[in-house]
Amino acid sequence: MNRNKIASLLASINPIDSVCISGWVRTRRDAKTFSFMEINDGSCRSNIQIIADDTLNNYEAVKKLSTGSAVTVFGVLRESPGKGQRWEIDASAIEIHGLAPESFPLQKKRHSDEFLREICHLRPRTNKFGAVFRIRSALSLAVHQFFNDQGFFYIHTPILTGSDCEGAGQLFKVTSLDMENLPKISGETDYQFDFFKKAAFLTVSGQLEAEMFALALGDVYTFGPTFRAENSNTSRHMAEFWMVEPEMAFCDLDQNMAHAESFVRYLINHALTHCADDIELFNAYVDKTLINTLNKIASGNFIRLTYTEAIDILKNSKKTFQYDIDWGSDLQTEHERYLCEDHFNGPLIIYNYPASIKPFYMRVNDDDKTVGAMDVIVPRIGEIIGGSQREERFSILSDRMAETGLNPQDYWWYLESRRYGSVPHSGYGLGFDRLIMLITGIGNIRDVIPFPRTPGNIDF
Ligand code: 4AD
Ligand code: MG
Repeated sequence: MNRNKIASLLASINPIDSVCISGWVRTRRDAKTFSFMEINDGSCRSNIQIIADDTLNNYEAVKKLSTGSAVTVFGVLRESPGKGQRWEIDASAIEIHGLAPESFPLQKKRHSDEFLREICHLRPRTNKFGAVFRIRSALSLAVHQFFNDQGFFYIHTPILTGSDCEGAGQLFKVTSLDMENLPKISGETDYQFDFFKKAAFLTVSGQLEAEMFALALGDVYTFGPTFRAENSNTSRHMAEFWMVEPEMAFCDLDQNMAHAESFVRYLINHALTHCADDIELFNAYVDKTLINTLNKIASGNFIRLTYTEAIDILKNSKKTFQYDIDWGSDLQTEHERYLCEDHFNGPLIIYNYPASIKPFYMRVNDDDKTVGAMDVIVPRIGEIIGGSQREERFSILSDRMAETGLNPQDYWWYLESRRYGSVPHSGYGLGFDRLIMLITGIGNIRDVIPFPRTPGNIDF
């Protein structure tokens, strides 16, 4: 017999003669001649109630089932006479798979996020984390749906790379050399002996490769894991995170900003309509303003202002920030959040940043001081998207590379794309984990990814 999912049984309109569900015991209590069990199978937030009576041939074993044990229940779906649930299953047989001892760490009380992080292998069995990961799955699919509907192509950009896209040097090195016995040439590691015969890294972004495909297929995107060895132990950074990166040919900065805005709105609307039950949980237990905030972001326009305007507002704010702010310095999360949450009270897009604080590939503006960069800032998170119009002019691009300390020879293929039918093009990267933070109200990025990787942490 095929297994039923609790999610679909609870949506049933009529009773069903013969059902089968498999899941884990959440609670069990005994009455005189029967036992009530709440089972959860992960398909939705709700448990289903099982009535197991003493006619079951393994009733004595059923009466010993404790929280965390795994079972398959066969029976009838019927209206529940009890309060709090419409349906219950009257069990005709219960197969016991694996017992969980009393020491099972997830007992009925609420556990802290910090504690649950130490047991990442078990936390998806809690209501909260089950909901996080169902939402994460639904939104992954929504990403593909959004782009597919608009005729974008999904490109699998490489994870192993020889180039530093962001030029920030936060690369994890990949090698097959014997670390205890490195081949040397003039005192330095000789990569001729390494797997790729040159230094190799985990990618920090699929952008450069995505650009090559935008310049052939028009509108493309990548969606995959990215890696940064930045030693910042914050609640918004991880060493391994997921990024969605669209890249659009024949697209300028304005169109890029409009696209990014519509993407964020689409994802939030998708979550509100397709994950309503799970979002309800976060609204009740994590952030009581969550649904309001999400509705507001999904319905209003994002305010747009230049970096220079942002600096003026911050300077005139009379607020003391931990990091000083001057034209030419990078905006910190505290600045972004002040602008977004205090000054404008809504999502923003800041654009035209100083060239000196941005990577080589961003298009230089006519003022020669700023580049066509843009960041989307949302409440509670700060930057959720970073993007730009790309420098399509060969000579300016190669000058910018040299200026920022990159060797143009290492990027010969990227430069060459500006020789053969170069066009204005733009794109951006959305931090998928930060999106899940926004949609769930969860405050620490470690709690929205199954197995977080941060400095000093690579368990599981
Ligand atoms: O602003 P970033 O560095 O932009 C790029 O990587 C561009 N190449 C994207 C593009 O134009 N195709 O990163 C984009 C987004 C950030 O806005 C943030 O949401 C997320 O990626 N992000 C991180 N998320 C978690 N942990 C980290 N260490 C992150 N670094 C960036
Ligand atoms: Mg950025």
